[in-house]
Amino acid sequence: MENKVTTAALAEMKDNGEKIVMLTGYDYSMSRILDEAGIDVILVGDTLGMVKLGYENTLPVTIEDMLHHCKAVKRGNKRAFLAVDMPFLSYETKPQDAVLNAGRLIKEGGAEAVKLEGGKEMLPAIMAILDAKIPVIGHLGLTPQGVHKFGGYKVQGRTGGAAQKIIEDAEALEKAGVFMLVLECIPAALAKTITKILSIPTIGIGAGPGCDGQVLVSDDLLGLYSDISPKFVKRYANLKKDITEAVTKYRKEVKSCKFPSKDNTY
Ligand code: KIV
Repeated sequence: MENKVTTAALAEMKDNGEKIVMLTGYDYSMSRILDEAGIDVILVGDTLGMVKLGYENTLPVTIEDMLHHCKAVKRGNKRAFLAVDMPFLSYETKPQDAVLNAGRLIKEGGAEAVKLEGGKEMLPAIMAILDAKIPVIGHLGLTPQGVHKFGGYKVQGRTGGAAQKIIEDAEALEKAGVFMLVLECIPAALAKTITKILSIPTIGIGAGPGCDGQVLVSDDLLGLYSDISPKFVKRYANLKKDITEAVTKYRKEVKSCKFPSKDNTY
């Protein structure tokens, strides 16, 4: 396969100053589109729970949900690097659980790396997963699985102490062997500092332009999901409007016996 994106290729992109483009994907058709459009990393994010399963937050998502969608994305993808989120409570309990669940996402789901939320407190789980030869992506700043702890989806690292903690966590994750780091909803200056300090790539979401790459939830970018609209989202399309127009037209044409026409009939 030509130019398959690998962990080594992603590290090289940072070294060469080439921005890494990441988007979330949850099913076969979208995976094909993202892959064919040249997206570098497809992340089967646990935002799946919100944008596809209709939950209020990511907490109810199970390892079975992630596996189901990861397998579908895998079938549509050829070139992009395939990463998958470890859902809430699939890695926090004990390192052995973390390895077994990460292993299932790789072995059954076909992912090439797992992403999990948290800093130093997650090092035992991270190190156990790495010992099983599974690449790990870290996630710091606003970690949505901690929504109740944070009291909502709020920008993190705004005070000196909080910023320092994120820097120390980032350094600890790199030292442990994490190969890439997502920084969510932190001040742009802090993300830029972390990106300079670390030799592994940083991927920002609501973390400004100073990161080595960017990620968005594809349903946000496409204007399909509107339950929450964070400031960091840029809508590149309004598919909700397009789909509404299309299905309304279809409804009218069936009601008025305009569809199916001769062209659509055997
Ligand atoms: O779950 C997700 O989609 C994510 C990204 C937005 C970073 O973690």
